[in-house]
This record gives sequence, structure tokens and C-alpha cells, in this order.
Amino acid sequence: MTTRLTIRRPDDWHLHVRDGEMLKAVLPYTARHFGRAILMPNLVPPVRTTAEAIAYRERVLAALPKGSRFTPLMTCYLTDDTDPDDVERGFRDGVITGVKLYPANATTNSAAGVTDYGKISRVLERMEKIGMPFLMHGEEVAADVDIFDREAAFIERRLSKWVKQFPGLRMTLEHLSSKDGADFVKSAAPQVGGTITPYHLNLTRTDWLGGGLKPMLYAMPVIKTATDRAALRKAATSGAACYFLGTDSAPHPLAKKVAVSGVPGIFNAPVALATYARVFEEEGALDKLEAFASLNGPKHYRLPVNADTITLEKSPWTAPEDVRVAGPDGRALVYRGGETIAWRVAE
Ligand code: NCD
Ligand code: ZN
Repeated sequence: MTTRLTIRRPDDWHLHVRDGEMLKAVLPYTARHFGRAILMPNLVPPVRTTAEAIAYRERVLAALPKGSRFTPLMTCYLTDDTDPDDVERGFRDGVITGVKLYPANATTNSAAGVTDYGKISRVLERMEKIGMPFLMHGEEVAADVDIFDREAAFIERRLSKWVKQFPGLRMTLEHLSSKDGADFVKSAAPQVGGTITPYHLNLTRTDWLGGGLKPMLYAMPVIKTATDRAALRKAATSGAACYFLGTDSAPHPLAKKVAVSGVPGIFNAPVALATYARVFEEEGALDKLEAFASLNGPKHYRLPVNADTITLEKSPWTAPEDVRVAGPDGRALVYRGGETIAWRVAE
């Protein structure tokens, strides 16, 4: 039985660290173990321009624990009015790693997202030309589409067309949640890659809805069926280069999660690597964890892999129930908080 595993230092290719006091409270959990993370731009107001990305990066760097070597990779939030020249400048200057699509009203803080896909073709053409990655919240938000079918409908109505229309555009379908999503990414690799969260690998909608409503397990894209989970587990643990780690760790104040209209997002950074390790162990694929966590992402983003390593060891600990946030936010509950966690990162 494997009880220790040393791998290249992983990166998180989809992460929300927010801003202000929440940023200070949650960033250390990621910075401790990951070399880099792609930071999502869905702040209020969103990070829409190169100038805003520079300012946000400064606030993130200021919130890092002393001595941390963590590198934030910034994204820019695509709107109907995004200026191709601005994102090109941001990419060439090394400020912005990619542009992020939120279809309007698909998820937390997406009200300023894209409402008219006709308006973004100039930006996509430019990104294709300069080799700039396009990151997608791949869900079709339309009255005729059931929430469990949003990912499949986005692939059918949007992504399958863009793959042909922009053959040189490098895309990431983020937080894959369905068999359709995992299958499509495979079929469109290496042009399209996909991130997979620890919670979509771990849970089914029965966990979320079947034994008392669990608002803490509400996230977009919503957690789906056991068939979908099985396909995602197979994909992640296959070692295929098109699948890589993206936690979608998305902290919210408890009061916003548990509300008449609760917000989507699962704060999992404190247990993310341990949860992935358990899934890979259960699937008999610990030997594929390094590819998923540390090698495939840099390859897709054309960045070097991290030079150093981390060691995972099987040694039980108890996940914290919550993280305290100064000010009115109070606290954010941790995914798997209070559970005994089998794996840990050796310090
Ligand atoms: C994310 C958030 O809270 O910002 N929520 C979520 O449910 N995953 C946004 C997102 O990635 O959809
Ligand atoms: Zn997200």
C-alpha cells in the first residue's frame, strides 16, 4: 500500500480567492501547497481590463504569507465590450494568462458576463492569433435548457462551433461536470483541455439533495449523476493530457450560502489535494496523480512545470470546520470540514 507519494509541485488551474478580508483568510491555504493558480476575475466589480488585473495582482501579492513563492496567474473577465487591444497588451506584457467567459447570469458574480456571442468574435479572433488561452464557464443559460443539461447544451450550441471557427484558439472547459463534457474535451484535445474539481469527483446529486438539502454542496455547474461522476473519475485518473487540476475553490460567507436564495460555490482549498489523492487511490491510479495535478496543466498553458516537489502522505487529520474572516463576512465553511481526512501534504 502506498503511504507516501512525491510529485512535482501542483498548480490550481481554476481558483477563486476573492478580495479584501476574504482574500487574506483563504489565500494561505492555496499558497501553502500550490506553485501557481489561475485566479478567477468574478469580483464585484469584475476584473475586466489589464489595468484592473494589475491592481488585483498587487492585492493578491500583498495578501501572501511572508516568504511564499506562490505565483498568481491573472485572468480578465470577458464582457460584450472587451477591447481586443487591451487583452493583447495584457497577455504580451505577462499580466494576463487568459480571458474568462462567464455567460451572463450563469453563476456567482456573472451579471456582467457575455449576453451576445456575436460581440465577442473579435476578441476570440485576436486571442487565436496571439496564442492566448480562452477559459470558459461552459454552461448554456437559456430558459429551454434544464440546469442539468447546461454543459451539454453549451457544447452543442457554442463550443463545438468555436472549435471549428477558431481552430488555433486554445480553450479550457472549466470545472467539467458531466460525461458529455469529459467526452467532448477528449474528442477536441489538445485544442481544448478541461479542469476537474475535487467535489465533482467526489459527489453525486444524491449527496447534495437526497439526505436533507445541503446548501454547502451547491455549486455551478451543479453536481450531477453517478454516471457523470464515474466518467469524470475515469477521465481524471486516465493520465490523458487534456485533463488537469482546477479546484474551483469558491469561498462564500456562511450567511450567503445558507439563505432563501443561496449562492453557488464550494470552498475546498484546505482539503483539495487530500481529496484528489483519495479519489486517485480509490481508482487505483495514484501513479497518474502527478500528471493530473502538476504536468498536464502547464503543458496546456505552455508554461514550465514547477521545479520543486511536494510529498503526500497517508496520515489522518481533521479538516477545519470553517475559516474565520475579519469583518462582516464572519466565516466560510470548509468542504469536508470536521471529517477525518486520510491524506495530507507533508510539511
Ligand atoms: C463560483 C463562485 O462562487 O465564484 N461558484 C461556483 O459555484 N463554482 C463561480 C463559478 O466558477 O461558477
Ligand atoms: Zn469557479
